[in-house]
Amino acid sequence: MTTATTGTRTTGHAVGTAHTRVEGRDKVTGAARYAGEIPFTELAFGWFALSTAARGRVRSVESDAVLEMPGVLAVLHHGNAPRVDIDYVGMLGMPPDPTAAVFQHDRVPHAGWPVALVVAATSEQAREAAEALVVHYEEEPHDVTFAAGSEHPDAYSIPGPGGPGVTGKGDLEAELAASAVVLDAEYSTPEEHHNPMEPHAATARWDGGRLEVVDSNQGTLWVADELAKMFSLDPAAVRVRSEHVGGGFGSKGLRAHQVAAVMAATVLSRPVRVVMTRRQMFSLAGYRSPTNQRVRLGADAEGRLRALEHSSLSVTSTVHEFIESGAGPARVMYDAPAHHTANRVVRLDVPTPTFMRAPGEAPGSFALESALDELAEKCGIDPIELRVRNEPALGPVSGLPFSSRNLPACFREGARRFGWADRDPRPGLRRDGRWLLGTGTAAASFFAGAMPSTAAATAESDGTFTVRINAADIGTGARTALTLVAADALQVPTDRVRVRIGDSDLGPAMIAGGSMGTRSWAWAVTAAAEELRERLALSDAVPPEGITVRSDTTAAVGALTQKERHSFGAQFAEVAVDVATGEVRVRRMLGVFAAGKIVNPLTARGQFTGGMIWGISMALHEEAVRDRNTGAHYGADLAGYHVATHADVPLVEADWVDDPDPDDPVGIKGIGEIGIVGAAAAVANAVWHATGVRHRSLPIRPDRVLEAGVRA
Ligand code: MOS
Repeated sequence: MTTATTGTRTTGHAVGTAHTRVEGRDKVTGAARYAGEIPFTELAFGWFALSTAARGRVRSVESDAVLEMPGVLAVLHHGNAPRVDIDYVGMLGMPPDPTAAVFQHDRVPHAGWPVALVVAATSEQAREAAEALVVHYEEEPHDVTFAAGSEHPDAYSIPGPGGPGVTGKGDLEAELAASAVVLDAEYSTPEEHHNPMEPHAATARWDGGRLEVVDSNQGTLWVADELAKMFSLDPAAVRVRSEHVGGGFGSKGLRAHQVAAVMAATVLSRPVRVVMTRRQMFSLAGYRSPTNQRVRLGADAEGRLRALEHSSLSVTSTVHEFIESGAGPARVMYDAPAHHTANRVVRLDVPTPTFMRAPGEAPGSFALESALDELAEKCGIDPIELRVRNEPALGPVSGLPFSSRNLPACFREGARRFGWADRDPRPGLRRDGRWLLGTGTAAASFFAGAMPSTAAATAESDGTFTVRINAADIGTGARTALTLVAADALQVPTDRVRVRIGDSDLGPAMIAGGSMGTRSWAWAVTAAAEELRERLALSDAVPPEGITVRSDTTAAVGALTQKERHSFGAQFAEVAVDVATGEVRVRRMLGVFAAGKIVNPLTARGQFTGGMIWGISMALHEEAVRDRNTGAHYGADLAGYHVATHADVPLVEADWVDDPDPDDPVGIKGIGEIGIVGAAAAVANAVWHATGVRHRSLPIRPDRVLEAGVRA
């Protein structure tokens, strides 16, 4: 096949060129429908009633009264709901979080636990009835307090090298004693919530013998697989679709709403939709555990690390184990003769936390990258120079070589653009009227991997191409990125390619998660499209049914050699601090990343800056606070839980250095999570530079700034 051109556009160069979202027009005109808006005939609506008790048992659910209310069709609870199976291992290789298996017993493990689903003819009727439903509890004493400090009497770790538990080499105490400079500091991060724009929503219906679920999720097969196992169905009898997703950030896997919708659709034999409210999401959608972290660093007079210890304590529920691996970044970033990391967890009467953008790395990098900044100050070495001096040759824990490690290049380029060379390292010196000014930097990294996926590429008889892959576009621009990748592999212009995603019937593919979605999907799309192009070169004409080629990257991905594979980045922030009011404003931010081949600079920039803005939010605003007495949140909504809004976000720039992955067909590494990594530390380090005071607990609230004051 020849390399065709249309007009002035040369084919084969779509990857790396800015492209607006292929579904952008549908989204801004409202033509794109989200899971909670897709019409169904005979649709009924389920509304959750959540526990007001923080621990105990449901004694009774007074459903009779609400069954008399207008439109009410059913009240599902532990006494009458279908039984499900939770004794299985899910697609991600983990047992299911029993939180999703609603109404299976009378135990209440936390406030906000689903105790009933009221189903009615309209959403309003369901809500009215669910709010009127009286539930009696046998309450037991609860404990929701995540005490200060990185040790806790009930904390435990899961052993295993490279896993989320404990790693260690060398004599820590001896190396610390022999160090010229020692830092020992504790850091904490609060409970944080994903808050995607689109709440979780699912509609379930039985169509013949087949269960069909329309949902908003990060992987239709992930949800279909778990629903099939939970309801003991043939996997082929479950179809999950998820066309457009208004954000997920780790929270959109299998959750209570899909399971409750399937139960209700089964009981009522009609389609049932369950949508979470924003408030309900605070107990049903997962969240990032709070962390208490301790970092001990020992260095020689030149700033070379002799000792590194990072321990991180997080929280999980009493019903499921999820560990926020705050100590993870230290296993990649810095080496030392004595190197020890530990992730521990403590069970409390709270909902189960889950993956949230850069799980582990986001809170872990706040502690580690703050500690590096503190060490630089103590050593009298520039914080960038300190990091460059501590660039490891091999993975500090794994001993494996890095596939590529362009962190110094990110710092060089970032420092040049940010104007770092002129920086006076002394804190508390710069003023702009009532504001104290400071700048800070931090490093970022995130695992870069690929997972097996399948794809199909079809040459249609009209000269267009259809690519089918069970990808999920959760707002990242994945659908557009895959269009560019397919166009290049097919050597055709992008407007001749359509990409179909978000349907479990499309077959196995990686979820949108772990920064591995687009890379994994692009690999499969490239394989199918390249083979199709070769096939077309040998055929005269395309038959009416088209020519389809399928790919499966299981073998190719499995053949990847063992290496340390990561994206890297350098974050820079300038802040202004009003010490009279305690207000901290970020004035500008710059992130420079080495994150593989950038497929679509337009949407990639949005991914990076979105993460960085979340870093501002994490540094200054976000904090979910629990009431010890009720065990529930104060202000579980977007008024009580502050996220950065436009007025908080100044000039935020993201760029990248050339860093194609040597082992990926397109050169992709993955960019989903790295934007937030190190961003909060860069802001906190800038606050120190402005005020001379270290803030080791996030968020850096006005009251904390006021209390801490200024130290020149
Ligand atoms: Mo991400 S936290 O793997 O959605």
